[in-house]
Amino acid sequence: LLQPVILSGGSGTRLWPLSREKYPKQLLSLVGDDTLLQATVRRVQGLQGVELAHPMVVCNEEYRFVIAEQLRLLHLSGTVVLEPCGRNTAPALTLAALSAIKNGSDPVLLVMPADHVITDVAAFQKVVSAGAVLADQGAVVTFGITPDAPETGYGYIQAGAPYGEADTARLIARFVEKPNLATAQIYLAEGSYSWNSGLFMMRASVWLSAMGICRADILATCQAAWEQGQTDGEFVRVDKTTFTQCPSDSIDYAVMERLASGSGQDTITLPPGVVLPLSAGWSDVGAWDALWQVLPKDERGNVSQGDVLLQDCENTLVLSEGRLIACVGVSDLVVVETADAILVSHKDKTQDVKKIVDTLKAQG
Ligand code: GDD
Ligand code: MG
Repeated sequence: LLQPVILSGGSGTRLWPLSREKYPKQLLSLVGDDTLLQATVRRVQGLQGVELAHPMVVCNEEYRFVIAEQLRLLHLSGTVVLEPCGRNTAPALTLAALSAIKNGSDPVLLVMPADHVITDVAAFQKVVSAGAVLADQGAVVTFGITPDAPETGYGYIQAGAPYGEADTARLIARFVEKPNLATAQIYLAEGSYSWNSGLFMMRASVWLSAMGICRADILATCQAAWEQGQTDGEFVRVDKTTFTQCPSDSIDYAVMERLASGSGQDTITLPPGVVLPLSAGWSDVGAWDALWQVLPKDERGNVSQGDVLLQDCENTLVLSEGRLIACVGVSDLVVVETADAILVSHKDKTQDVKKIVDTLKAQG
């Protein structure tokens, strides 16, 4: 049994002013008609050779109705695990594993961030099928993206010895979450590193036992919160007081960095960490420039949506929700118009949109 687990917790601040706290990017239709969350759910439908469970979404309490509605529009029932507060991905996945393992089954979890784009679904499904076999045998499977820049917002995976029968699978020699720029440059030059895509596969029980070794405190808190929680139709609620006390940590820092065969510790009791190469048009659409990358462009590299007029422009992204936007003779710009805010940014500086959001937050 393959259990899709969709993590939907981030707010996507760098895609302001479209992405807001009330309506984070995974709930928006940024590429095509589906929202990113819906596209994530749909991406695994029709997967060959596995029995597919209904999707499970882990999200904050606040988004329960929007998310349930988005699943309903796909004619899919699913489970929505509700967090009273965000404690990062390690607790979120632990709650999902606890929910999946009930009734004595121990499915392979396919952990997917809700806010990524994958353009080649067939290629994605092929790699996931290979991953399912390895995860079923007890490995923790990651998916590596060939890096093309020293990005510091990603995890870096160094491939080690070949693993198992799949000829592309490698043991993880090293996993380094979000290295600094100098280190990322070294990894990029080195050639044996890939970016961690943020997708993972492992048996639910394998995740729980890894957490028991790496972060017994988080496991115990999640277990208590889950046991004191209740199921309400499609919603699984955990105990608020208990979960609020849970320490924050990510899957990557809590477990992945320690699974690496080169880390020299814990490798006897921890499951093997494995990396499969993923070449499927993956993007985590972290900022506007990444969205420009994945959207269809005109012959001069412009992306426009809504009421937009371009005259002699190049490589720009212009989105209008209402008013007419006209641009003349500009290149490498991002212009986004919404009812209450307009963003104009150089396409190379869209990471810094986060700073605007921070300033706005500080101003209240
Ligand atoms: N339910 C829930 N609760 N989901 C969460 C929470 C939480 O508290 N925190 C984050 N998420 C969701 C986000 O919405 C996103 O879909 C996914 O989990 C990953 O979290 P991010 O916060 O976006 O992580 P990241 O982008 O900094 O880093 C991860 O992804 C990179 C690839 O995009 C790491 O796995 C990196 O190693 C990786 O390279
Ligand atoms: Mg992310």
